[in-house]
Amino acid sequence: MTIMRAVELGKTYRDGERETEVLRGINLEIKKGEFVAIAGPSGSGKSTLLGLLAGLDKPTTGHVFIGENEITSLGENKLAKIRGKMLGFVFQSFNLIPTLTALENVELPLLLNGISEPKRAKELLDLVGLSHRNKHYPTQLSGGEQQRVAIARALVCEPPIILADEPTGNLDSKNSQIIKDLLFRLCQDQEKTVLVVTHDLEFAKQAQRIIHINDGQIQ
Ligand SMILES: Nc1ncnc2c1ncn2[C@@H]1O[C@H](COP(=O)(O)OP(=O)(O)OP(=O)(O)O)[C@@H](O)[C@H]1O
Ligand SMILES: [Mg+2]
Repeated sequence: MTIMRAVELGKTYRDGERETEVLRGINLEIKKGEFVAIAGPSGSGKSTLLGLLAGLDKPTTGHVFIGENEITSLGENKLAKIRGKMLGFVFQSFNLIPTLTALENVELPLLLNGISEPKRAKELLDLVGLSHRNKHYPTQLSGGEQQRVAIARALVCEPPIILADEPTGNLDSKNSQIIKDLLFRLCQDQEKTVLVVTHDLEFAKQAQRIIHINDGQIQ
């Protein structure tokens, strides 16, 4: 079953006179439960593509489907609902809220989506091996721990799809391995669909499929 699809996706940034065509005619289909890596040189458009697939940004041309929903034409409210239900996003730079504890960071999406599941955030911190750190603030956590909190946060609303943009980019090899194992485990044990942008070719090779992007196109 196809869970995510892009059709003739294009993105051009306009800044006054200057136009930068970043993505051109991207077509892709992601199956439910697949683990897919997106690889390609710096500046080739990987983050732009992931942002469009997540509905964080609008394409210039083409369409994105998440499940049955075409998201590019949706207003912010409907889009936020679908995103909340279907997607978890993990960033290279963790993007935790510094004034909230680990547990509060994980709880936040539940609050924003009006979900009352008081135990779920704790369970997810447990899943990523951090229940002993739930009262720590982000600055009191190592990079690898912060990324595990970010993954717990991405999972807390139980989305079927996880999108990750270089989730191991800021981590040493030991912590990278922990994050990679965690992402593979989510796919294997929980049938999550995982789409991960990475520069790490060894990591990409372990995926079920690699999508190579070059100069805004799939090769
Ligand atoms: N807001 C913007 N305005 C203009 N150009 C942009 C904007 N955002 C990105 N770009 C350009 O789009 C191109 C693709 O950027 P993108 O961040 O998608 O690349 P990437 O493949 O993720 O690179 P990296 O591996 O370095 O993260 C780059 O050349 C960048 O300069
Ligand atoms: Mg990028």
